[in-house]
Amino acid sequence: MGRKLLLEHINVPGINTFQVYKEKGGYRAVEKALKTMSSDDMVEEVKKSGLRGRGGAGFPTGMKWSFLAKPEGVPRYLVCNADESEPGTFKDRYLMTHIPHALIEGMIVGSYALGANTSYIYVRGEMMPQIRILEKAIAEAKAAGFLGKNILGSGYDLEIYVQPGGGAYICGEETALLESLEGKRGNPRIKPPFPAIAGLYGCPTVVNNVESIAATVPIVNEGGEEYAKIGIGRSTGTKLISASGNINKPGVYEIELGLSVEDFIYSDEYCGGIANGKRLKAVVAGGSSVPILPANLILNLANGDKRLMSYESLSEGGFATGTMLGSGGFVVLDEDQCIVRNTWNFSRFYHHESCGQCSPCREGTGWMEKVLHRLEYGHGKMSDIDLLVDVSKKIEGNTICPLGDAAAWPVASAIRHFRDEFEWHVKEPKLALEKNYGLAHYADPIKVAEEVSVN
Ligand SMILES: Cc1cc2nc3c(=O)[nH]c(=O)nc-3n(C[C@H](O)[C@H](O)[C@H](O)COP(=O)(O)O)c2cc1C
Ligand code: SF4
Repeated sequence: MGRKLLLEHINVPGINTFQVYKEKGGYRAVEKALKTMSSDDMVEEVKKSGLRGRGGAGFPTGMKWSFLAKPEGVPRYLVCNADESEPGTFKDRYLMTHIPHALIEGMIVGSYALGANTSYIYVRGEMMPQIRILEKAIAEAKAAGFLGKNILGSGYDLEIYVQPGGGAYICGEETALLESLEGKRGNPRIKPPFPAIAGLYGCPTVVNNVESIAATVPIVNEGGEEYAKIGIGRSTGTKLISASGNINKPGVYEIELGLSVEDFIYSDEYCGGIANGKRLKAVVAGGSSVPILPANLILNLANGDKRLMSYESLSEGGFATGTMLGSGGFVVLDEDQCIVRNTWNFSRFYHHESCGQCSPCREGTGWMEKVLHRLEYGHGKMSDIDLLVDVSKKIEGNTICPLGDAAAWPVASAIRHFRDEFEWHVKEPKLALEKNYGLAHYADPIKVAEEVSVN
């Protein structure tokens, strides 16, 4: 059994309440931090832990905290990114639903470390139950003296506010989130300046993912060095993985980084193997934005070693043979799944969610969706395959925010690893339609296109 730092008490009845959470050792980190540590000590401890941001990019959290500007008389903010809209990712929602105080405690120690007296949790707008759960948890913590004025007699004041999100995936990009939090349309900002210098209301701000913030609690409790002993290399600690697709046991798992991908997929402790005795075809390992990998490349590295669940191992080989840990949205596809259909589906999402500020993303995501649509519905041409690669290259690296890359990578990687399947859709359009939609649509691809089309 791997160590659990965040989900250890997940099955304890009432762990969502302040009382039970505290009985299980909760809020020790706040007491330790406020009574025995300075803000600088806290930042040092998080640096020592090696914790890397769990929102997708994997940027070292301690380093991010140390970049925060501290001009005299200017407020600083900690903003928690709980927008979680990446297809395949549902770990933050799980944590907030079942152990909301883990996030609130992390917000208190994080805010203290950064010298913030007002902090925000920006929650995806659709997650109304979680918004209510967090508001209740904040009220409980405040009633117990862990929030508000002069917390535990330390002289430190903090208020935490929950803000419902704007209802768009792009609002999860940190600068779009800040725009939205300020009451504007959630369009990403051009960087620099980075939020550490000019973030919320133009003030120094740290934006961190829910899981990153919750992970600071065991780091304060155990110490950064102890935390860094878990994991492998520069991938320290534990990570929440949202596992879905064709597996026997979909759900949220806390793993020690460094576990082999094979053990994660096949062991009973985690995914429990591929459902219905099918074979593994491919995995999208870190949410819809990361490159898809076929079974052989997700299980093994080029030299034959087992691939591990870590930032380094998953990306080994670059985009030729590797992928990314991303947000930990682990989507498993069995041998019956159609890669063209899957890629088209992701493409629809990115086209829909592009904010439209930059032309390569606004136009390119639409073109990719259109071309994939015609390949999927039986009227594609062989030249469409290279056209898709060309469009994806023109988007990648040429946009204001990483949504453009996130839209390009799934398409480019699907063609890189499954070109024969795209070609089969062109050569055998009727068979492809029959496979994906059944015999009723065999003769009339246009009819299928209309029925299942983008709405
Ligand atoms: C389109 C887009 C959507 C994103 N959505 C989220 C999200 O829902 N949650 C999140 O934590 N980070 C999301 N990110 C990453 C954030 O911009 C940012 O890197 C992250 O919140 C930083 O937190 P961390 O350092 O703790 O990972 C998104 C990025 C992009 C480009
Ligand atoms: S890359 Fe796309 S989502 Fe990001 S700013 Fe440009 S148009 Fe908007």
